Amino acid sequence: MKQRWIIFALSLLLLAGCSSNTADAKRPTDGEGLYKMSCLSCHGENLEGAAGPPVMNMIAKYAEEDLLKLLNDGAGMMPGGLLSEAEAKSVTKWLIEK
Ligand code: HEC
Repeated sequence: MKQRWIIFALSLLLLAGCSSNTADAKRPTDGEGLYKMSCLSCHGENLEGAAGPPVMNMIAKYAEEDLLKLLNDGAGMMPGGLLSEAEAKSVTKWLIEK
């Protein structure tokens, strides 16, 4: 019974983290800030992955424009359209250098 509550609390936390990008008065504009705002909850503070897979060394897997497309369109369990086009571009630039 106790375990259920923990799982419930964890999913609430996750939901809150994943939707915190909607009405943010001080929305960051730099890649790192945007990552923290919209991606960290699923991909981890150090890109190590969490609910989503790790996203380090993406340059080995994607060209910059493919990465940008992935962010805009989403993939599988990953939601697309989390960021505006300009924001997605700056996260892509930031992430591809990690
Ligand atoms: C709701 C959780 C969630 C959020 C928020 C999220 N992602 Fe993801 N992401 C995922 C999942 C799950 C996958 C795996 C998708 C699949 O099934 O192919 C993924 C895949 C990826 C991949 C491809 C990884 C690979 O090895 O091919 C990249 C890159 C990525 N996400 C970057 C981001 C960035 C940047 C953001 C912020 C704009 C973000 N994600 C936000 C869950 C999330």
